[in-house]
Amino acid sequence: MRMVDLIQKKRDGYNLTAQEIHWMIQNYTQSKIPDYQMSAFAMAVFFQGMCDRESTDLTQAMIESGKQISLEQIQGIKVDKHSTGGVGDTTTLVLAPLVCACGAPVAKMSGRGLGYTGGTIDKLESVPGFHTELTNEQFIQLVNTNQIAIIGQSTELTPADKKLYSLRDVTATVDSIPLIASSIMSKKIAAGADAIVLDVKVGSGTFMKTVKDARSLARLMVAIGKGVGKDMVAILSDMSQPLGNAIGNALEVREAIATLQGKGPEDLRQLCFVLGAHMLILSKQANTIKEAEQMLAKAISSGKALEKFQQFISAQGGDASIVDHPEKLPVAKYVYEIRTKRSGYIHKILPESVGMAAMMLGAGRKTKQSLIDLSVGLVLQKKVGDFVSKGETWIQVFSQNSENPEIDALLSDSLLIDSSPIQKGNPFIYEFIQ
Ligand code: URA
Ligand code: CA
Repeated sequence: MRMVDLIQKKRDGYNLTAQEIHWMIQNYTQSKIPDYQMSAFAMAVFFQGMCDRESTDLTQAMIESGKQISLEQIQGIKVDKHSTGGVGDTTTLVLAPLVCACGAPVAKMSGRGLGYTGGTIDKLESVPGFHTELTNEQFIQLVNTNQIAIIGQSTELTPADKKLYSLRDVTATVDSIPLIASSIMSKKIAAGADAIVLDVKVGSGTFMKTVKDARSLARLMVAIGKGVGKDMVAILSDMSQPLGNAIGNALEVREAIATLQGKGPEDLRQLCFVLGAHMLILSKQANTIKEAEQMLAKAISSGKALEKFQQFISAQGGDASIVDHPEKLPVAKYVYEIRTKRSGYIHKILPESVGMAAMMLGAGRKTKQSLIDLSVGLVLQKKVGDFVSKGETWIQVFSQNSENPEIDALLSDSLLIDSSPIQKGNPFIYEFIQ
């Protein structure tokens, strides 16, 4: 087989066979196919697409390029959740202890943030002492004892995806639905879950700008998962403004604690309940959405979910007293407020600009090597649909400086106010795909 023939075949709109895809990925992983040929292939896929069967074969080939985690020693049905990435997405910190308190085992692998999207591992590391470097055996033992553990992404999983993703990043081939779907699904499947709930974001702050594109991506990921025997559900949720109020690592831990105490922002609570209900159904802890939602509500009102959070933090070396003493989390030197320049209804809070501002404050990484500041970030005081008077505070800035002219200007530009009223928080969940 020759790579040039496979590039030409895809360029001309034909489908590759399973054998051709496996050959290509295997040789690319071993650096026997150079980056320039793989780049040309990625661009051919960008224009010609891939059928569901090819996308599934590509996923399978990337899974087989590295190690796979076996969760067989953990009792029960292991359900994982994945979000395609957003700004201020605090859901995993809430969901993991919440569904665990309802009986679903949580054995989760999470990532770090890059660019303006945050990562669960960074957020958790703002808890003093907390660590995610566990051996596989420690990880499995923790889940069997406490029914919950979270580890960092193993470098041994899906090396083909790592190579290909870096290449796509610099060849304008990231936003191809079959390439995104196979990249995400290969990592999720290699991490060993029996069932996966996908949160596909829609909006200006994420890959999929329209419901139509998000639906295509969700359908393909569900088809790939089912094709390898996983139970799957995808929801399409709104990312046209940041999720919840807090954006930034320690600030999001505080927001997660408040949500587990029943005091969190409404959109974050709603998303956690929708995702959580599907996780409980897939793990066979509940039969209907209604029953699942009642279980989740009870886990919060009884304090069981918060107790699980504390147990989980302690078991991984963290100081669980942060729940009662959040001042023990990293605290920024200055907190200041940004005020509105006119009166009216908030129509937009551009998530990409708010995410960029948080990154510039130090909450996120510009490159994989950047160091981050766990204490800094932003807290929204208003959301889309709210009425504001001129001069009202709409966002708080947590920073090591008393002002940041460039960042403050970016934030002011991210807020769109108009005199016409606009419905609050609606629609937030667009649809379900099963
Ligand atoms: N996230 C991934 O892991 N891969 C993609 O291709 C896009 C988003
Ligand atoms: Ca948030």
